[in-house]
Amino acid sequence: MKLAAALITVAAIAGQGVAANAAVTIGNAEHGAVLFKQCAACHRIGPHAQNNVGPVLTGVVGRRAATYPGYSYSSAMKRSGIVWNDAELDKFLHAPRKLVPGTKMGFLGFKRNQDVADVVAYLKMFGPVRSKTATRSK
Ligand code: HEC
Repeated sequence: MKLAAALITVAAIAGQGVAANAAVTIGNAEHGAVLFKQCAACHRIGPHAQNNVGPVLTGVVGRRAATYPGYSYSSAMKRSGIVWNDAELDKFLHAPRKLVPGTKMGFLGFKRNQDVADVVAYLKMFGPVRSKTATRSK
């Protein structure tokens, strides 16, 4: 099954970080797919995704914020200068308006670190993963 295979890949990538990082949350892409239903109220992902209430999230990991073609971002997001690596996604998905005050993303954020890690693992299944660290530390 496709998701399970990707999960193993993500876990393998995450495993490389374990030696360097004592505290890691390894994302479960399969659970991330379930959680993504909340994002799917506004976002599409996959090879044929179109902009919706929010921008296409295909390949978002490693992408510079506010650069998906044809989407009208808030000026706050355009000014943010963020590159969506693990650390920034972690902050954003816990508290979007704290990381990017004035963002028009109407999602309050996840409370659980594991939920964030799971959704990010799911996002990584789509498009290039330029950040090699599927891990997070705190
Ligand atoms: C209620 C609608 C809504 C929901 C739900 C939502 N988003 Fe968003 N999201 C947006 C909007 C609108 C933007 C554009 C924000 C801006 O321009 O300030 C955005 C932007 C983003 C960005 C930045 C994209 C870029 O190209 O810079 C990421 C990453 C993101 N969302 C991830 C998520 C994830 C993951 C979830 C689910 C956990 C989620 N969003 C849930 C509406 C939503």
